Amino acid sequence: MIQIVPTTALDGQKPGTSGLRKKTPVFMQNPYLQNYVQAIFDGIGGVQGKALVVGGDGRFFNDTAIGVILRMAAANGASRCIVGQGGLLSTPAASNLIRLRGADGGLILSASHNPGGPDADFGLKFNGANGGPASEAVSDAIHASTQTLTEYRIWDAPAPDISALGEVYLGAMVVEVVDPVTDYAQAMAQLFDFDALRALFKTGFRLRFDAMHAVTGPYAREILENRLGAAPGSVVNATPLPDFGGRHPDPNPIWAHELMDAMHGTDAPDFGAASDGDGDRNMIVGRGCYVSPSDSLAVLADLAHLAPGYAGGLKGVARSMPTSCAVDRVAEAKGIACYETPTGWKFFGNLLDAGRATLCGEESAGTGSDHVREKDGLWAVLLWLNILAAAGKSVAQLMADHWARYGRNYYSRHDYEEVDAEAAQSLIADLRAALPTLAGQSTGALTIARADEFGYDDPVDGSHSNAQGLRIFFKDGARLVFRLSGTGTAGATLRVYLERLETDPDKLHLDPQEALAEVITAAEAIAGITARTGRAKPDVIT
Ligand code: G1P
Ligand code: ZN
Repeated sequence: MIQIVPTTALDGQKPGTSGLRKKTPVFMQNPYLQNYVQAIFDGIGGVQGKALVVGGDGRFFNDTAIGVILRMAAANGASRCIVGQGGLLSTPAASNLIRLRGADGGLILSASHNPGGPDADFGLKFNGANGGPASEAVSDAIHASTQTLTEYRIWDAPAPDISALGEVYLGAMVVEVVDPVTDYAQAMAQLFDFDALRALFKTGFRLRFDAMHAVTGPYAREILENRLGAAPGSVVNATPLPDFGGRHPDPNPIWAHELMDAMHGTDAPDFGAASDGDGDRNMIVGRGCYVSPSDSLAVLADLAHLAPGYAGGLKGVARSMPTSCAVDRVAEAKGIACYETPTGWKFFGNLLDAGRATLCGEESAGTGSDHVREKDGLWAVLLWLNILAAAGKSVAQLMADHWARYGRNYYSRHDYEEVDAEAAQSLIADLRAALPTLAGQSTGALTIARADEFGYDDPVDGSHSNAQGLRIFFKDGARLVFRLSGTGTAGATLRVYLERLETDPDKLHLDPQEALAEVITAAEAIAGITARTGRAKPDVIT
């Protein structure tokens, strides 16, 4: 029976770059989740007769929330919900499933790389029929619904068991429980040369994949160990846990330091990789050689044709504005288009749909292609492995070759987390006001060439997004970007992105923080970060 529950509008926060993220207790406080789910359904024009994909990264509250979503989908008239067994679906696997099954969209439960648990973070986002994050217009419509909500609808019966494969009915709606891995693994087998990868592992090639106790464990075990023959135990921390083992499932050198240690120790494997909470991010590290996400994108753009799925070459590439310009140099050499978009994967969707870009990436460990409409951690790992197998080179050799040919875009991101929100906002506001006066000013050895605020005109649908980050360009090709995070759940996070191109063959193997020292000094001089935030140094340097 449909129960109609009177309710009131949600708080005014607009969903950020990846849906709505809040502290778990906020989502658990009935009717917060119920309100947001109803707002999603209303915002997309209702779900009457629609098919939806539902799954999440397995964090605390994942299963309970899925039960609520299924009951609400049934009460709102959905015809079918396709759910990952046990409530699990990685974000790229959900995107793949939406496209494969021709679903009308999907609800993905995740706060990505943020910690999980009763006092940690939870999140929910809606992806559209193309498998990608809701567009700005749809996000706005969902947000508008949160403000006008007066009731939500829920099926007045217990949620079905989603631990067993098969179909059950909830009211008139079919709940179809599917294996979360099978279709995704099949998609990967179509893109990559699995025979060559099996041959690579047969030669004794050693891999360490750290699933960080998050959703990619079952995917990586099945694909890397069972299908490709990586030695048993190559996938570590493979069991998804509701609290990710109490850590941040964030694949960067800080949070994946165990992997970094293993890859820099004696007896390091040939290749190391990690993925995040919901499986869309990746970290790539060779023996003694960490690959920055921006460099990874550039190398993949350069060599993707070595994998069967990309043998015909790339239509174009795209990167988020703060991502380093390394990929631009590859695109230029290949004579293909290179798009610069605002932060957040949703901005790649139109370019991918329109066939303008094949590969996309962000500096925040996200890389992907037109095979789905999300970034895809395991896909990036498999593409790297395919390239290594085809090129017969180590990661370190590939990087050295790349820098020798294209130069090296030294790059780093400095994050100041949980900064007082007002202090962070006034830092940005004052810097914005100062932008027109900056050209010609010198800070230490660097002279500012120009400064602006990034805005984006979508070449496909003509929509405009403004205020997407403050950019300062220096005369020697260095660049500084300041922006506030859209995904935090407490205070504000200030992100400072630092970059400098080096083409001198004798300076291609420096420590990035040293190579960027002058840019780091300039950032402090221009923005007064320490004085304004009270922080002497960043919380996280990647
Ligand atoms: C961060 C990353 C961004 C990514 C997003 C979702 O957003 O910087 O590249 O798309 O997470 O994974 P931010 O917190 O910077 O708004
Ligand atoms: Zn993620």
